[in-house]
Amino acid sequence: MLYRTIDPERLPELLCKMPKAELHMHIEGSLEPELMFALARRNGVAMKYPSVEALRGAYEFDNLQSFLDIYHEGTLVLKTEQDFYDMTCAYLERAKADNVLHTEIFFDTQTHIGHGLAAKVVVDGLYRACQDAPAKYGVTASLILCFLRHLSEQEAFACLEEVMPMREKIVGIGLASSEAGHPPEKFARVFARAKELGFRLVAHAGEEAGPEYIYSALDVLHVERIDHGVQAIRDPELVRRLARESVPLTVCPISNLKLKVVHRLQDHCLGALLDAGVCATVNSDDPAYFGGYINENYTQTFAALPLNATHAYQLARNSFQASFMEEAQRKQCIERLDKVFETFYRP
Ligand code: HPA
Ligand code: ZN
Repeated sequence: MLYRTIDPERLPELLCKMPKAELHMHIEGSLEPELMFALARRNGVAMKYPSVEALRGAYEFDNLQSFLDIYHEGTLVLKTEQDFYDMTCAYLERAKADNVLHTEIFFDTQTHIGHGLAAKVVVDGLYRACQDAPAKYGVTASLILCFLRHLSEQEAFACLEEVMPMREKIVGIGLASSEAGHPPEKFARVFARAKELGFRLVAHAGEEAGPEYIYSALDVLHVERIDHGVQAIRDPELVRRLARESVPLTVCPISNLKLKVVHRLQDHCLGALLDAGVCATVNSDDPAYFGGYINENYTQTFAALPLNATHAYQLARNSFQASFMEEAQRKQCIERLDKVFETFYRP
């Protein structure tokens, strides 16, 4: 294992410089208060908070639901295709700064349809930013549409139908929002339909709710990746299965801390999952709300846990391995990762 010979003092620099993919980031969760206020002005939307500082000061959460309530309010400033484009470009610029080569962006249309927008306004703005991303930022980006699980399966079917004219702009389908009380089974039929339509499938499971949601996401929804999945640690047999079947987990450590899924990063199970052979990845979830983009997630987690350069390499490699990119691109990304690691080896 050559990468064990990297100077541990250079680990924070390595974490930032290593190429990586981000696979769990809700675009509405990347909307920084500064841009939110600018969009509110542009669209004539009244803000509930008097200033950027007051809004940021309200970002204290007890659990997932208390976050979702504020997050939902933030989406009220988004009105036009250009708003969705600008929000996505702002994220892509931050992603580039963190040496993200590829990102699979979560979004939803149900929130915005609820505010009177058409799904096309949302998808067109996001997709135009994704198309411009390689030339503008050197990043490739694709889109994953999340159904909101607190709404009905029938509403998810309507959502799927509305995006069908834009089928080619969306790589996958996911499941987000309030987890407890809304198990994967509720969406069995609409996920089966999405699969028939050729979408890649993922779902949030085991963020707050228990391992049984992860089993259902795998066995009932037939997803390829689990978003969060950290509650798997309570079930050793499930951890063994995730490792054996190479089911990736898109873990978001700072999110888990801010939503009180864990009380200290020192208690986070990321290291245990990696050491058990699970294809875990590091991601930012809602960086504007949780105060950390992807590199901050890496550096804070590595500062809190006994993780080394081998783990860093594994996490970055896992992010490419778990992504929905084409094989040729995957190979190139891993080659770029290996090159950066080479420059960090001790002589
Ligand atoms: N969990 C569920 N829904 C979400 C999240 C999350 O972490 N972020 C944005 N929507
Ligand atoms: Zn999420």
